[in-house]
Amino acid sequence: MDDIIHAPIGMLAGKVAVITGAGQGMGRACVDVFVREGARVLAVDFSGKQDAVARDHGGAVVPFHADVSQEDEIKAMFAAAIAAFGRLDASIHVAGTQGGRGDSLDFTLAEYELMTATNLRGVMFCTQHAAKVMVGTGGGSIVNFTSVAGVNGEQLAPLPYTAAKAGVHMVSKVMAIDYAKQGVRVNVIAPGFTITEMMDSASPEILAHMGAKSAIGRPARAQEQAEVAAFLASDRASYVTGTVIPVDGGWTARVA
Ligand SMILES: NC(=O)c1ccc[n+]([C@@H]2O[C@H](COP(=O)([O-])OP(=O)(O)OC[C@H]3O[C@@H](n4cnc5c(N)ncnc54)[C@H](O)[C@@H]3O)[C@@H](O)[C@H]2O)c1
Repeated sequence: MDDIIHAPIGMLAGKVAVITGAGQGMGRACVDVFVREGARVLAVDFSGKQDAVARDHGGAVVPFHADVSQEDEIKAMFAAAIAAFGRLDASIHVAGTQGGRGDSLDFTLAEYELMTATNLRGVMFCTQHAAKVMVGTGGGSIVNFTSVAGVNGEQLAPLPYTAAKAGVHMVSKVMAIDYAKQGVRVNVIAPGFTITEMMDSASPEILAHMGAKSAIGRPARAQEQAEVAAFLASDRASYVTGTVIPVDGGWTARVA
């Protein structure tokens, strides 16, 4: 039998990660957890909030302004990570856009464009460009954030949103298969209902309704998503690739 892998206490010690959507919510929680585990991070957002996140962490975090729906800004983001830290071990694509209406007969082209620009196109090109860097440097771990609404139908999630998130599942699986032998792992976290700023505009009724859908009976905290991302980014997950992991308190385990 092989010896067990002796991982360091800080499971991301010495690693460099790009984290998109780092200004708030789950992306911000990923920055906090990754730094706690010893990583250095390029904190990427287009909101401006990435600057305060970096200030809170001192030298371990460098802020970077990018709109990750734009390929040239994605390329600049990875160039900035290499310029700041000299390497790239993990790329965590959390940035996403929520919105639109739930009625599948009524969505418009504008809503489709809004729901796919970051959620599908952006994540697809982030995955592609991260993999290009990693193939050239011996490998790394990519984690794409989608949604339980990309796994199974959810009445409150607009069709273009669920379709974009489901598309990322195939982007991730195909990239995982194509680049596994070059040391690139690609996995998905499909969050269930999670308390973040994205939910600020939701009514108390919606919050209670959504929280009750998990078997655990409450919404997730952003940190509970980030802890799984840190594991997937670490060498402890060295045999995990091509997976879609619902971090949803058992929501998608139910038949209905
Ligand atoms: N919160 C939930 O209950 C929930 C459930 C399922 C899936 N998700 C998904 O998880 C991810 C994180 O959700 P959250 O609740 O933390 O979101 P959030 O809205 O709180 O934060 C998203 C962050 O991404 C940034 N961002 C958005 N588009 C960007 C772009 N094009 N370029 C750069 N930055 C951009 C925003 O400025 C913001 O800081 C999203 O992909 C979301 O779709 C969320």
